[in-house]
Amino acid sequence: MTIKVCVGSSCHLKGSYDVIEAFKEVLKKYDVEDIVDLQASFCLGHCARGVTVLCEGSEPAAHGSQVEECENGFIIHEVNAQNVEELFANEIYPKLNLN
Ligand code: FES
Repeated sequence: MTIKVCVGSSCHLKGSYDVIEAFKEVLKKYDVEDIVDLQASFCLGHCARGVTVLCEGSEPAAHGSQVEECENGFIIHEVNAQNVEELFANEIYPKLNLN
């Protein structure tokens, strides 16, 4: 799976850098650095609900208030350094198909 954290101007102001750093920590903690590619992305088109994170190469996610299906995976809205681990554990980790 590829996780793309938006670093467009709006998301940048909302803390993209901290979100990327938090994702790095969480990927290390869950020992999935080798199977998840963490990248920065240009504007993902959902600026009002940033920080926006696109998870590509996954089965579609269930719809939740923060999660939206898209063509090649799902988008998570309103990500911040404080909720990265919870969102990762609930929305991303189960879709890595590690079993
Ligand atoms: S700046 Fe992040 S979605 Fe537009």
